[in-house]
Amino acid sequence: MEKERLEKEIQLMEEKALAKIAHDPFRQGFHLTPLSGWMNDPNGLCFYKGNYHVFHQHSPLDPNRGNIFWGHFTSPDLIHWKKQPTFLYPVDSWDKDGVYSGSALACEDGLYLYYTGNVKHDGDYDYVYEGRGHNVGLAVTKDGIMPDSNACILENCDYPNDLSCHVRDPKVWQMDGKYYMVLGARTRQDEGKLLIFESDDRLHWWFVNDIRTEQSMGYMWECPDIFCVDGQWIVMTSPQGMEPHDDIGQNVYSCGYFPLYGDFRGDYELGAYHEADMGFDYYAPQTFEAPDGRRIVIGWMGMPDAEYINPTTENLWQQCLSIPRQLRFQDEKLFATPIDELKALRKDEMPVSCDGAVEWNRPKLCELVFENHGEMLDITIDACVHISYRAGKVTLSLSGPAAAGRTERFVNIPNLEKIQMFIDASSIEVFYNEGAYVMSTRFYPEQPSNIEIRGNGCGACYELMPMDIQWKE
Ligand code: FRU
Repeated sequence: MEKERLEKEIQLMEEKALAKIAHDPFRQGFHLTPLSGWMNDPNGLCFYKGNYHVFHQHSPLDPNRGNIFWGHFTSPDLIHWKKQPTFLYPVDSWDKDGVYSGSALACEDGLYLYYTGNVKHDGDYDYVYEGRGHNVGLAVTKDGIMPDSNACILENCDYPNDLSCHVRDPKVWQMDGKYYMVLGARTRQDEGKLLIFESDDRLHWWFVNDIRTEQSMGYMWECPDIFCVDGQWIVMTSPQGMEPHDDIGQNVYSCGYFPLYGDFRGDYELGAYHEADMGFDYYAPQTFEAPDGRRIVIGWMGMPDAEYINPTTENLWQQCLSIPRQLRFQDEKLFATPIDELKALRKDEMPVSCDGAVEWNRPKLCELVFENHGEMLDITIDACVHISYRAGKVTLSLSGPAAAGRTERFVNIPNLEKIQMFIDASSIEVFYNEGAYVMSTRFYPEQPSNIEIRGNGCGACYELMPMDIQWKE
């Protein structure tokens, strides 16, 4: 069978990749990376039967992205991880060109995983308005590890007829005794919007509403999510084709959210759009609710179709996910802060105090917490990543080979009070003012070197331990 053949090929590829980990300067310590191959969107995030589950878009046989499968990690605590077998293979007629993004619904009788079956029909098609099938698939697993069943439950003919073939990335949740699904869509007129479907039984779905804006917000909205945090409904999505304005839209594609006022099933209004992350590498985030009620988001720390690169493919892998971030709603905005669990990785603490300038040799994995007391601030990492704050604007610029093509991004922050920064082997995530703004980027330093601060303030630098990741049985 095709699936068994692929399984063997994956196993061989994974053994080769595993042999390279120990000598790989860029293999991440506390971010999920694919053991072999390419990774993109997080999928099916949930807590089910005592474990967190992170599924993800995965091309296990090709670090430059080949056909797409679902990879899978589990963890009891978001710190100790285990790589699980490939969960979905693109081997059915209705998902043969990729088991694309989707989400999880954790139920008493099993874990329900809704995803997109991508099909490219043979022929001379544009694959946007013609020639492509975007189906909704449903895989159900009792043990959370191996699918027990898999079926196609929606096809393009089940969607409203103003749409192109691009309708994907189901996010499903339960509410008011019913089930809801939101799908990302591109209309025939190239307007990005979302579709809301409803169901009584998790299997049969009917269309109930559109979520869209009057102003132009691009031609396609990918990877939608709708959730309530601190009493506020939020619509999150990754719009493609948005016009840039001010500090919004500096990347190839955007990713952000609107507050939603009213009812997503009927009358509603969307508030102002904000980007979820203002750095180079963050896209297709998905949220889930932890057992203690926290709303946690994980994004893909990458950017589709970007000019910059990730020089890890010679070690047979590429791309990673962001650290999990806890969301809260305050002052009409989402704030994202690193989950508390990450504090368990802190090892040695070094106090940092700066009155003019300070510099120190940094550990390879580290966290910097710094309270800014000045009008101006400059932080430089390994002489290649520069964060500078001047007159209500923070600029992140990368230079030299470690940038791998990344240049400059900025964000308007009227009053910079605090910075919290997580540095892994090949990434930096910077949280400003308790998560009011975030910037994420990959970077590729051959050797960790130093951190320099010019400005005024104080804080601490922690050496971090890597997470425990079990790659093999
Ligand atoms: C976003 C995306 C999704 C799609 C998936 C395919 O990065 O394009 O819309 O389902 O990636 O891998």
